[in-house]
Amino acid sequence: MPDSASAPTKLRVLVPAEKIKDRIAELGKQISADYKGPIIMIGILKGAFIFMSDLARVIDNPTRVDFMGISSYGNAKSTSGEVRLTKDLDMSIEGLDVLVVEDIVDSGVTLTYLIHLLSQRRPRSIRIAAMLDKPDRRMRPIKVNYCGFEIPDEFVVGYGLDYAEEYRNLKDICVLES
Ligand code: IMP
Ligand code: MG
Repeated sequence: MPDSASAPTKLRVLVPAEKIKDRIAELGKQISADYKGPIIMIGILKGAFIFMSDLARVIDNPTRVDFMGISSYGNAKSTSGEVRLTKDLDMSIEGLDVLVVEDIVDSGVTLTYLIHLLSQRRPRSIRIAAMLDKPDRRMRPIKVNYCGFEIPDEFVVGYGLDYAEEYRNLKDICVLES
């Protein structure tokens, strides 16, 4: 396993910035058409912060934004199976149409936990938008309603995604090779 501070690592572009932009424009149209009224977007920190800000700007509906902090990985490359809430919402979601915005769905453990938690607060609906989906790795059944790209089972960074808190600011989505 590479240690980003010491071992040599190589980045290979998997999804270039222009392709991300085009796909988000399509998702925005689809979401705007599907929802008739206001939406509350819930971004999952930290990975979703860039996707959230790009997606919010291509949605036409009246939109509120809030964030939740979830931590499941520590600094490893695969899920620990343990999910921790590090920041709760500021707003109530009761009776509202919730769009959960995630960077990537991998095992599905994080979203299973989150959806369960959010359902208890009686929103009118919950849907999921994820920039990336790694369906091969799924351990829990999670349906992504709005998916940017399905990708193979490779560890990716950039466009919000990190490895040990690095690379989040890359414009492209890249495979981290050691
Ligand atoms: P899950 O609970 O296994 O679905 O993991 C979801 C979370 O793990 C995501 O929100 C990411 O923060 C992180 N994650 C999963 N795969 C990757 C990856 O390839 N690169 C960076 N982070 C990842
Ligand atoms: Mg995440």
